[in-house]
Amino acid sequence: MNKIKIIYYTGTGSSKIIAELINNKLIDMNYDVFFEKVSKNNLVSQKSCDLIILIFPIHGANAPEVVYKWIKNLPKGNKTKAAIISISAGGKVIFNRAGRLSSIKLSEKQDCEVFYENSLIMPSNFLIPTPDYLSRALFNILPEKIDLIIDDIVNEKIRKINPPIIDKCISKVFEIEKIGVKILGKTIKVNKNCSGCGLCEKICSCGNIIMSNKKPKFMCNFCTACLYYCPNKALQPSVFKMVILKMDITLIIL
Ligand SMILES: Cc1cc2nc3c(=O)[nH]c(=O)nc-3n(C[C@H](O)[C@H](O)[C@H](O)COP(=O)(O)O)c2cc1C
Repeated sequence: MNKIKIIYYTGTGSSKIIAELINNKLIDMNYDVFFEKVSKNNLVSQKSCDLIILIFPIHGANAPEVVYKWIKNLPKGNKTKAAIISISAGGKVIFNRAGRLSSIKLSEKQDCEVFYENSLIMPSNFLIPTPDYLSRALFNILPEKIDLIIDDIVNEKIRKINPPIIDKCISKVFEIEKIGVKILGKTIKVNKNCSGCGLCEKICSCGNIIMSNKKPKFMCNFCTACLYYCPNKALQPSVFKMVILKMDITLIIL
């Protein structure tokens, strides 16, 4: 297992931090590592490898839609080994526990051999804030957790979880979130503070923001990155405003 491909998707940056830590560690261990971000403009991975490590945030007890699109484009027949790591704010709570199931099933349909799955908790970017002390503790313990996960993966430890049926049902029900976030995305309004800088367009992982007449237009899946990173706080959803946290998440994550 020499050639390792790390594939990640991120909205607000937590999954990127994990992906980078894993990348650095594997490079230190002399693996040949290829590092790639999933986005609307990057849904096909060309390079072949011995192992894929797929990292994504949990959105509505599932992977974000763009991740499923990436998996569907994997070439069949390669029997590549795969490890799937989900990042969430809630951790192993009931509605998250089946959160990797659909991505595992889809990867296996594309002939990947998923032998390992795990999860990591990072600060919340949605609805319920993570207290500061807990965010700090999560970051402090991260290197240790990453070491354990890498140790498992490079030693090809089999770790597959069969969540109880109730979790599978809840995860299925939460798939409605895919429609919900598209609707929420359309409600994002630009206020008078917008300077037209275009940072939101650059930061959007999915290429879902287009500047038109120096104002952003959204076809969004509500990863929330633009809302938190806008330097002028000029973007806000017009409904369910409470899902966006008042705290400056960029201070925690960067
Ligand atoms: C639209 C949306 C839905 C989310 N749904 C869940 C969820 O079902 N369970 C959970 O624990 N966290 C949920 N979260 C929180 C994120 O998984 C968490 O904050 C993660 O660290 C974000 O990763 P990122 O910074 O790489 O985007 C959600 C976040 C967003 C934006």
